[in-house]
Amino acid sequence: MKASYSRPIGMFDSGFGGLTVARAVIDLLPNEDLVYIGDTARYPYGPKPASDVRGFAIELATSLVRDFDAKLIVVACNTAASVALDELQQSLSVPVIGVVDPGARALVRATKNNRVAVIGTVGTISSLAYETAIARASLEISRPISLTAAACPGFVEFVERNETSGDAVTQLAEKLLAPIRDADVDALLLGCTHYPYLSDVIARVMGAEVKIINSADSTATVVHEALLQNEIARSSEPSRISAHDFYSSGDIEHFAKLGQRFLGPELVVARRWPK
Ligand code: DGL
Repeated sequence: MKASYSRPIGMFDSGFGGLTVARAVIDLLPNEDLVYIGDTARYPYGPKPASDVRGFAIELATSLVRDFDAKLIVVACNTAASVALDELQQSLSVPVIGVVDPGARALVRATKNNRVAVIGTVGTISSLAYETAIARASLEISRPISLTAAACPGFVEFVERNETSGDAVTQLAEKLLAPIRDADVDALLLGCTHYPYLSDVIARVMGAEVKIINSADSTATVVHEALLQNEIARSSEPSRISAHDFYSSGDIEHFAKLGQRFLGPELVVARRWPK
């Protein structure tokens, strides 16, 4: 068995969204190996019942530990983290990090007027996970925070189709973000890991006075802290090139092609999951 520190970080999402978190983790932790699974055969998770999403999350996380020997799991999907994080943390033998708390903390730190918004999938918003996370984060900064949350059904499908700009997605954004614009917030969290790919459209609709926050960088920081705390961080070996492996439960050629556009050059091939 490999020494703990040399095992990869495991990460999953319903599709391409978690690649926003993968990018931040690769940039912050260049020595670490990474195994990413995009469950594109079963995306989108957002409209599915919580019990189905919980089942997918358990299957994916268990596979990352059992089949890939992951030393830490990142649930790079708000929908899955909202309904399955506690259970995964209790049942797995390795640390499990979600995206909801890191995002909530980044959001409350960004607001000046104490009025914030979160957008996410129907599953994430209806789980009320952000109400809990923002309440927790506002205690840390000792300031009451008012939260407006809105589900944005349809955004994920635009990303998965690689339609990240244009009239159709802009019109949908104008409609779905109207309640957020009316709420006088000064910071908006992209509470779905797919949404950073729509951040130009979202920023334009919201206007320059609203800061757009995503959870990728703050999640990468929490991953770093957890690796250090558990003494499983991989130290630098100058001549070694880190391994980044990508798997998809759907069309692996499409995953490699579009995934490379989203993530960058580390994604060359995608392999089939389950193996
Ligand atoms: N990227 C995901 C999230 O953060 C899931 C989107 C979906 O599959 O609906 O919620």
